[in-house]
Amino acid sequence: MMHIISCQQYTRKSLEELFILTDDVKNNPQKYKNALQDNIIAVMFFEPSTRTRMSFQSAILRLGGKIIVTENAGINSSTTKGETLKDTIRILNGYADAIVMRHSADDAAQVAASVSNIPILNAGSGKGEHPTQALLDVYTIREKRGKIDGCKVAILGDLLYGRTIHSLLGLLCLYDNIEVYGLSKNAFALPQKYVNMLKENNIDYKVCHSFDEIPKDIDVLYHTRIQSERFEGDFGKEEYIINKQVLNKFSQHTMVLHPLPRVDEISSDIDNDPRALYFEQAYNGVPIRMSLLLQVLGKDKEIMSK
Ligand code: NCD
Repeated sequence: MMHIISCQQYTRKSLEELFILTDDVKNNPQKYKNALQDNIIAVMFFEPSTRTRMSFQSAILRLGGKIIVTENAGINSSTTKGETLKDTIRILNGYADAIVMRHSADDAAQVAASVSNIPILNAGSGKGEHPTQALLDVYTIREKRGKIDGCKVAILGDLLYGRTIHSLLGLLCLYDNIEVYGLSKNAFALPQKYVNMLKENNIDYKVCHSFDEIPKDIDVLYHTRIQSERFEGDFGKEEYIINKQVLNKFSQHTMVLHPLPRVDEISSDIDNDPRALYFEQAYNGVPIRMSLLLQVLGKDKEIMSK
């Protein structure tokens, strides 16, 4: 049985399989519209979400599946009564065919998978990982750039607590000739374990102190929100804001990505610039999550070959 827990579970080959399936889902959605007609998916979010939750729900509905939901699960589920996550997952095993879960604990998805006989799809686990986001991020880069090898990526914002960054780096490690540049306030620098992971995969990580230190021909500027819900105290606002003036220093092929929600990292004055791809990126959440559901429920190969 297949869970989607961490980017570490991917190989170049399995990523390419997912992306080929996603191309087919995007180009031929009618082929897949009844794929999950016999399935019920449980969607359980212990943390707030707009894009991940609703794009998963949209994906399930577009595949003809049915949904049972607990929003705000920390309050609305029996967790408030003291039930453990393991017990909640054991119960959902009797009610659904797969579980999409977001939780504040870094190891929540692993814990859930350890007792689950149905697939767990990690929709964000603490400051650790957000694999389905990273998959749609890399899919978007591949779609726009044609390939990932040789990609120069700048990561910005909250490199410390940003789980989307951590998962994205995990996937970039699978490709050749990647360069990664980091630009953040000191308090939100990339944890050493990720710097080491990049190094072990022959990826140069360069810490920058201004936009001027990022190469003009960078392929991706990937900004993120300061994850203020993950720490006490006030570290002030984002210093490095992408606006028209900043973006104009970069080349015509530079893509601006962001997992969203943005707070003030990206000025709306670039929203109409063709390089601002964060809304398209968010739309790719639906076909990627449709493909992941098809894969974990074993419905991918047969339908794709039709
Ligand atoms: C991200 C998350 O939840 O980690 N959002 C998302 O899923 N697109 C990023 C964030 O909340 O800042």
